[in-house]
Amino acid sequence: MIQAKPFLKWAGGKRQLLNKIESILPCDVLKTKEIDLYIEPFVGGGALLFHLLSNYSVSKSIINDINPDLILSYKVIKLFPHELIKKLKRIEDDYLPLAYEQRKEYFYNNLREAYNKLDVDYKAVDSKTSVEKVALMIALNKTCFNGLYRENSKGEFNVPFGKYANPKILDEDNLLNASKLLQGTEILCGNYSSISIPQDSKVFIYFDPPYRPLTDSGFTKYTKEDFNDEDQKQLAKYIQRIHKEKHHFLLSNSDTEDNFFDNLYKGFDIQRVLAKRYINSNANGRGEINELLIKNY
Ligand SMILES: C[S@@+](CC[C@H](N)C(=O)[O-])C[C@H]1O[C@@H](n2cnc3c(N)ncnc32)[C@H](O)[C@@H]1O
Repeated sequence: MIQAKPFLKWAGGKRQLLNKIESILPCDVLKTKEIDLYIEPFVGGGALLFHLLSNYSVSKSIINDINPDLILSYKVIKLFPHELIKKLKRIEDDYLPLAYEQRKEYFYNNLREAYNKLDVDYKAVDSKTSVEKVALMIALNKTCFNGLYRENSKGEFNVPFGKYANPKILDEDNLLNASKLLQGTEILCGNYSSISIPQDSKVFIYFDPPYRPLTDSGFTKYTKEDFNDEDQKQLAKYIQRIHKEKHHFLLSNSDTEDNFFDNLYKGFDIQRVLAKRYINSNANGRGEINELLIKNY
C-alpha cells in the first residue's frame, strides 16, 4: 500500500493522537477497513486523512479548509507533483549550502517576500504560478520558526526565520505518494458548512475545528478570520443536523475548564485523552492537556 504523511506541519496537527483516534473509528470501518465516503471539513495538515488513505480502502474523500493557500497546496500536489518537486529541489539546492546569515536573508527575501508578493488565481490552478506559490509555502513551512502558519491582518504570512541545521525542504517520496493518494479526493475551499453531503452513501466525517483557547493567548487564527465561541456554537448546530441525517461523525477540541463542550454536545459520547501541544503562542501553554473526542456512534 502507498503510504504518505502530512506534507506541511500545521497547528493542531493530529499525528500524535492517531492511535487513539484509530481505536475509536466506527466499528464497521475497523472491521472491514473500508470507508465509502470520508469527509474532513477542517483538513489542515490532514494527519487523519493521510492515515486513512494510506491504510484503509477509502472509495471517495472530500476535504475542505477555509485557508485558500493551504487548499491550493493540496490541489497542486494532486495535479502537478513533478513540477512542484522540481521547484522545491531548486530551492533546497540554493538554501542548504548557505551560511546562517545568508540563509536568513534568503528566507526573508527569496521565500517570505516572494510568497507574499506572488498573486495567484485560486480558481485556475496551473503548473506555473500555482506551483511556484505552493513551493514557496512548503519551503517556508520547513524553514520558518516552529513550522507555524500565521498571517497578519493584511493576510500576509508573517512567521520569522527558524534555525534548523538541516531542514528537509523536499521530501520527494512523500509528495509523490501523497499525490497518488489524493487522486480520489475532492478538494474544496470555503466555510465548512458549504460542503454538500450526499444522502445516499455511508459517510464518516471527522471535524477538527480550531481549538477553543485554554487561555486568552491560545492560537485560533489560521487566517485573518478567527473562530470564536459563537462559531463553535454554530458548528454544534450543524453537527446536530449531521447526526439527524444518521451520518457518523467524530469531533475533536480542547477540554476547557468551563465544560463548554460538555454542555454543547450533551447526549453524545465524550472521551478525554492526554495530548501534547507543540504549537502555542504562549510558551507556558505547552505540555500535556486533555483533548476531547466527541462522537455519535
Ligand atoms: C485544528 S486545525 C486542523 C488540523 C488538522 N486536523 C491536522 O491534522 O493538521 C483547524 C483548521 O480549520 C481551518 N478553519 C478555520 N475556520 C474554518 C471554517 N470556518 N471552515 C473551514 N475550515 C476552517 C483552519 O484553516 C485550520 O486549518
